Amino acid sequence: MNDLLPEPEIDILFGSAQIAARIEELADEIATRHTRDLLIVPILKGSFIFAADLIRALHDRGLSPQVDFLFLASYHDGTTSSGKVDILRDIETDVAGRDVLILDDILESGRTLRFAVDLIAGRKAERVKTCVFLDKEVLRAPHIDLEADYYGFKCPDLFVIGYGMDLAQRYRELPFVGHIVKK
Ligand code: IMP
Ligand code: MG
Repeated sequence: MNDLLPEPEIDILFGSAQIAARIEELADEIATRHTRDLLIVPILKGSFIFAADLIRALHDRGLSPQVDFLFLASYHDGTTSSGKVDILRDIETDVAGRDVLILDDILESGRTLRFAVDLIAGRKAERVKTCVFLDKEVLRAPHIDLEADYYGFKCPDLFVIGYGMDLAQRYRELPFVGHIVKK
């Protein structure tokens, strides 16, 4: 117990059973459209739990993807974007000629995913597709016209936490997606 950290009141948007069912559907969709030799690039940190669930669901459908992580930062602690995307850790895999699926937790302004797609496509990948767990129903940033090829759920314009997503590096462990109710 830590009495310096009061438990926040969290409104659940997507529960764990609902998430698990949706992951199975997404894996069905992806498995029919991609080859066994897929390269999956989860964007850290937020997509690590989504990636862990999705790649195991893909395994159940006969895929044997390579997985390499791209660590990008656009949101630094807090809830607003800095507008700039930095590479904190690049992938090690040569993507030339590959079928690549980029995973992210949330598509919001589109800056993070746009950056990742341009990076991978610029290295001559044969095919670059994107899959986000949540697609936030907001306007993308100006000049960014990007939709994900696959998404888990459409999400209202709220700051969400859980299932890998954080507020100042907390709450990633929550098995559901929720938002903190302001008191
Ligand atoms: P974008 O670059 O604005 O599309 O934002 C995408 C990134 O911002 C994601 O990779 C998330 O890590 C982070 N992000 C956006 N909205 C939220 C949120 O509601 N909760 C937690 N992280 C978020
Ligand atoms: Mg984040």
